[in-house]
Amino acid sequence: MKILVTGGAGFIGSHVADAYIKLGHEVVIVDNLSTGKKEFVNPKAEFVEADIADRETIQSIVSVQRPEVINHHAAHIQVGHSVEDPQFDATANILGTLNIMEVARQIPVKKVIFAATGGAMYGNKPTPFDESMKEEPLSPYGISKRAAELYFNYYYELYKIPYVSLRYSNVYGPRQNPHGESGVVAIFAEAIMAGKTPVINGDGTHTRDYVYVSDVVGANVLALTTDFVGELNIGTKTEISTNEVFDKVTTEFGKHLERQYGSPRPGEQVTSSLDYSKAKQKLGWEPKVTFDEGVQLVANWYKNRR
Ligand SMILES: NC(=O)c1ccc[n+]([C@@H]2O[C@H](COP(=O)([O-])OP(=O)(O)OC[C@H]3O[C@@H](n4cnc5c(N)ncnc54)[C@H](O)[C@@H]3O)[C@@H](O)[C@H]2O)c1
Repeated sequence: MKILVTGGAGFIGSHVADAYIKLGHEVVIVDNLSTGKKEFVNPKAEFVEADIADRETIQSIVSVQRPEVINHHAAHIQVGHSVEDPQFDATANILGTLNIMEVARQIPVKKVIFAATGGAMYGNKPTPFDESMKEEPLSPYGISKRAAELYFNYYYELYKIPYVSLRYSNVYGPRQNPHGESGVVAIFAEAIMAGKTPVINGDGTHTRDYVYVSDVVGANVLALTTDFVGELNIGTKTEISTNEVFDKVTTEFGKHLERQYGSPRPGEQVTSSLDYSKAKQKLGWEPKVTFDEGVQLVANWYKNRR
């Protein structure tokens, strides 16, 4: 199958592209390299450097490539920056998505798979979040992801283009961009590699649901063949505090560091975890990699990179 992976030079998208290629699919990657890296692009993929916000360019790339499936990972991913500059976020995440879907419907593609958010989708509700809960995103980033889902639903209803929106929790693993704010594992790992003590924002009791990238890739593979259309949480239903992340990452890197605290980030969500029962039921998906195993894999990756 020919699959176009947007954001395929980025952290998650590059792992997804690798897996699709390994399964024998033909992969075309579209990425503007704003945070992605050329070195993450699988050499067996065709790479096109382009911005999804550039309507004419996307129109011509997609209409020439004519993929059967579009896996859409390209996005502006910084929640904090989306608050400072909502227009920038919306340009990539809403207009960029629309540029892709307008040409997708003309071809038409057989399916769209989307990287949505579970962490920034449900607002401040009791955890774990499940898909029956009302979406109440509290940031322009979360709003742009929800807007994209509503557009996918529109294209499904009107043009019969099926979609699977995978609402990830906090994804971590090799190649993660340490400059994104959800990447606590990568931020801590990079600090340690630079000989510094990672700084915990606030008192470290805030929790997140950490899902390992290979499990997320598994969901993207299952999404290729499912008949299910709609939104699915992809997480672990487990809450891990930032203090626990600090302890795990420092230990895995063989460092015995005192926890160091910085000022809390205003407005930050206190807890987050995703109920993945629907993904289990619809895709047969469940997370396989424990947090201990995942952090060990990340540490090994960093150590081997030196
Ligand atoms: N990392 C997480 O924990 C997480 C959680 C929920 C959802 N997501 C979503 O998963 C996707 C991938 O995130 P990631 O963590 O791999 O981040 P990333 O920054 O590593 O990947 C994003 C990729 O998109 C590219 N890109 C950004 N804007 C673009 C544009 N306008 N045109 C073309 N390419 C563009 C970047 O260069 C990069 O390669 C994003 O859609 C993100 O919102 C990530």
